Amino acid sequence: MTLTVFSLLLFVSLAALLFLAPRVSPPPQKLLGRVGDDKPLAAAGVAFGFAASGGGDAAGVGEGAEDLALFRRVTLDAGEGSAVAAAPKVAFLFLTNSDLTFAPLWERFFAGHGDRFNVYVHADPTARLLLPPTPSFRGRFVAAKPTRRGDPSLIAAARRLLAAALLHDAANAYFALLSQHCVPLHSFPRLYNTLFPPRAAHHHRLPSYIEVLTAEPQMPDRYVARGEDAMLPEVPFDRFRIGSQFFTLARRHAVLVVRERRLWHKFRLPCLPDTQCYPEEHYFPTLLDMADPAGCARYTLTRVNWTDSFDGHPHTYSAPEVSPRLITELRQSNSSTHDHMFARKFAPDCLSPLMAIADTVIFKD
Ligand SMILES: *[C@@H]1O[C@H](CO)[C@@H](O)[C@H](O)[C@H]1NC(C)=O
Ligand SMILES: *[C@@H]1O[C@H](CO)[C@@H](O)[C@H](O)[C@H]1NC(C)=O
Repeated sequence: MTLTVFSLLLFVSLAALLFLAPRVSPPPQKLLGRVGDDKPLAAAGVAFGFAASGGGDAAGVGEGAEDLALFRRVTLDAGEGSAVAAAPKVAFLFLTNSDLTFAPLWERFFAGHGDRFNVYVHADPTARLLLPPTPSFRGRFVAAKPTRRGDPSLIAAARRLLAAALLHDAANAYFALLSQHCVPLHSFPRLYNTLFPPRAAHHHRLPSYIEVLTAEPQMPDRYVARGEDAMLPEVPFDRFRIGSQFFTLARRHAVLVVRERRLWHKFRLPCLPDTQCYPEEHYFPTLLDMADPAGCARYTLTRVNWTDSFDGHPHTYSAPEVSPRLITELRQSNSSTHDHMFARKFAPDCLSPLMAIADTVIFKD
């Protein structure tokens, strides 16, 4: 009798253990989730179990304890040397607050190169993505928090993407930050050979493609946007830089960004009302120009058209403007040594004219 009760108890507790096991011990290496209906992240590793909202830090950046744990893991685990693999990969980091309309174009860009890239997506959880993710984007959504333009939350999101990509695959050697409005201008092999020149023996010294500008007219206003001396002593005005947030960082610089806290504490300070602030255009170029000026190409691979910009928005291309000639023009840069690899900003209606010239123009180098 006693034995029967005992066996029964044992059976019940074993069953309970089996049933509960996946919940009490999530696999620690699992960093990516599958996109659900309106929940960007279902499965989460230790570093990705974000609280429902806010995260509750004073600056409103939404960087909480979970983020800090993630960044700490990069400090501990994501060494710089491991990426010098036989076949380094490109990490494509998509920062979005709406549907990834151009996913079909990216799929064609990625096709046949699955062992050379990874995709990661930070989708603002307050925005509802209606399009189902295409294969390269499925399960690639990192735990995300709300983002706002001209706000340190965009820096926080980029740091989250970098950290997730660093931890997820040691072969990720370049990290290209893109948005849902970005499109490729060349084939994947062309991008790959640009980033990893076949003859370059020392991949660990490859440059970061980040725009670093000085003496732009808006800089004095941007510098004091948090108060007259708010950036001192860490960032004197003559070290303050500006550049597009759409960079392609080498791995050692991605690690540097995620580990960095000193300047980040300054750039995440709230901006005064009615100021032009745009911290996401200043933090990365200022930091990298201080830390490793010789390691930065000082230009971005992502073309943008600021002609007749309105309210800080660049020209947004619409379907009638898409043509083979536009692609040729956008590729050109002032440098004789490089072409632009990506371009923004494209309205969703550009998808079908872009697909129509994808194989004959865009991916034909
Ligand atoms: C840039 O945008 C302007 C309109 O704002 C347009 O006239 C011009 O053709 C665009 N340049 C390129 C290279 O697309
Ligand atoms: C090239 O440089 C000129 C002058 O600095 C600038 O106006 C133009 O926009 C640049 N073009 C590109 C494609 O970057």
